[in-house]
Amino acid sequence: MVANKSVLLMPGDGIGPEVMAQAKRVLGWLQESKRASFAITEELVGGASIDAHGVPLTDAALAAAKGVDAVLFGSVGGPKWDKVPFDIRPEAGLLKLRAELQVFANLRPAKVFDALVEASSLKPDLVRGLDIMIVREATGGVYFGEPRGIETLPDGTQRGINTEVYTTGEIQRVGRVAFELARKRQNRVCSVEKANVMESGLLWRQVMTKLQQDEFPDVALSHMYADNCAMQLAKNPKQFDVIVTGNLFGDLLSDLAAMLTGSLGLLPSATLGAKDATGRLPGFYEPIHGSAPDIAGQAKANPLAQVLSLAMMLRYSFDMDEDAAAIEAAVERVLAKAGRTPDIAAPGRAVLSTTEMGDALLAELQAI
Ligand code: IPM
Ligand code: MG
Repeated sequence: MVANKSVLLMPGDGIGPEVMAQAKRVLGWLQESKRASFAITEELVGGASIDAHGVPLTDAALAAAKGVDAVLFGSVGGPKWDKVPFDIRPEAGLLKLRAELQVFANLRPAKVFDALVEASSLKPDLVRGLDIMIVREATGGVYFGEPRGIETLPDGTQRGINTEVYTTGEIQRVGRVAFELARKRQNRVCSVEKANVMESGLLWRQVMTKLQQDEFPDVALSHMYADNCAMQLAKNPKQFDVIVTGNLFGDLLSDLAAMLTGSLGLLPSATLGAKDATGRLPGFYEPIHGSAPDIAGQAKANPLAQVLSLAMMLRYSFDMDEDAAAIEAAVERVLAKAGRTPDIAAPGRAVLSTTEMGDALLAELQAI
């Protein structure tokens, strides 16, 4: 088979390389079973790139990311790089990738697997069957707004500045992604901001309202303040279908939603851009969990979020819905019967290492 799909792997730091190793085995299975043929390359990012090249993302690595169909990313950061200058922190590499690839819509599903209902910190009834999609704006807002910085005041004290800023166009394009996703789900979008205190939030609400009226009258739109949304996610998460929100609120709310599912180690994400003239869609795929330095190097990390990110890549970048579904189903079967990594350990079940979890998954895939 001709390798017609190019994928760049960026394992990064901490548990990133450990979980990416298991995703590579799944890529291997896809190739061996002749489901697809990938041209796979790999680049350093984050702290690993700082150590090797002095910057968290080299021009060559960025060019490589721009040149492929999809990027599968691990995680960046760790205490080792806490003292590097702010603008070249490991996280800056990730933010630069999102900005340069112009992947503005970060899809963060929070789905509860039946086998894991007990792993949630909420009561089983509140989370059984939970299936939320958070669409987080990823290339704007306070993460990128200008002015920003730390300045020194005349009296010698300092002032730290960041700017929350959204334009009509930025709100519309992420809104369209949310409405279109809702049409394939329960047809409901909840738009989240702080329109009661922030002008950028007020504009967000106005633009979403008009967008729904003009282009998506068939989709139900509600609005919620971000603080209330956090409360509602903990109180009655099943009320939500698609949540669309800005970069910072999306960062917070997606961690909260992820934890409802029992473990951050299970949640993938896809960050998508707009199709270009040739129909090419930039796609960036990463687990929601970070580099987890506290467990890095101990073979404890759960590789399933990375593997599920790979499944999202198949679905959104390569239209390989069937193969994505096969991997997701294999993950469900692994969760139902085999042992588990420590993050989702349960009484009476064996505790598995990262690689053993990968073994269990590969066994399920090979049985297909
Ligand atoms: C995330 C992470 C990143 C973010 C960090 C690592 C820069 O928390 O993807 O949610 O804040 O976007
Ligand atoms: Mg985060």
